[in-house]
Amino acid sequence: MGKGYVLDADAAVLYEAQKVPAIFAPLAAATLAAVAPSAGATLLDLACGTGILARTARRRLGSAARVVGLDLSAAMIEVAAGVDDPAAGACEWVVGSALALPFADASFSDVLCQQGMQYVPDVEAAAAEIHRVLKPGGRVALTVWGPPNLFFTATAAALERHAGPEIARDWLSPFDFDGRSVLPAALLAAGFGTIETAPLVVERVMALPEISFPAEILSNPIGPKVAALGEDVLPRVVADAAPAVARHVAGDRVVMPQEALIVTATHA
Ligand SMILES: C[S@@+](CC[C@H](N)C(=O)[O-])C[C@H]1O[C@@H](n2cnc3c(N)ncnc32)[C@H](O)[C@@H]1O
Repeated sequence: MGKGYVLDADAAVLYEAQKVPAIFAPLAAATLAAVAPSAGATLLDLACGTGILARTARRRLGSAARVVGLDLSAAMIEVAAGVDDPAAGACEWVVGSALALPFADASFSDVLCQQGMQYVPDVEAAAAEIHRVLKPGGRVALTVWGPPNLFFTATAAALERHAGPEIARDWLSPFDFDGRSVLPAALLAAGFGTIETAPLVVERVMALPEISFPAEILSNPIGPKVAALGEDVLPRVVADAAPAVARHVAGDRVVMPQEALIVTATHA
């Protein structure tokens, strides 16, 4: 199982509705702009979740490309395959593990993984699998988050007060990964060359806190634990965290930057 990011079917639907437009779609656009795969690419979106990076790639690259999305979670893949978008219908969707990719050697020109490597239990093994399925000269691009932004830190403080320190810690776990050192080392050990690390800053755009904060929490692995504490807990967390982001409210939106890291390498 993935360490720390397992969503049930309801949360996977909410993930697509809330987190994808808020942050994962902007990150997918920024990642594809940075990597610029060619029109005839064979591209794997590894740990694809509900498939936003694969769909965005399919739209950019057109019908000459082959785009495959793979995720450990059958619930995420079910949502990915069912998204009402022709680009989703033009991708292949596979349930599988980053540690044992169900593809032949040298199947892909590009392997992209957006916010997935921090949950893989053995990063070196995943890097070796990525190397195996890439063609010679192929490219890998991995993104992970930088430090949490104010939305995450303010919500963590509110969670600690109303839901306890363990849930607050889990909320911040996507940021608790030293990608800057772990990822280049794993890629080097797997045989990759030309390893580069760069910052990637994207705008998180959400509805006003009373709408978006509950959806963010419920589409996170901590959601069921917060809900189980009683129906008054989530509104208290939201009311406590919301004032901290007041300066980022623009009309009916909350807009704030979120820092990520992109690590790229070439199949040597
Ligand atoms: C934060 S989500 C990111 C999903 C997607 N890349 C996106 O941008 O929306 C992390 C994803 O990693 C997947 N995951 C965790 N461990 C995995 C593994 N060992 N192999 C494949 N996918 C995994 C989870 O199921 C989850 O969908």
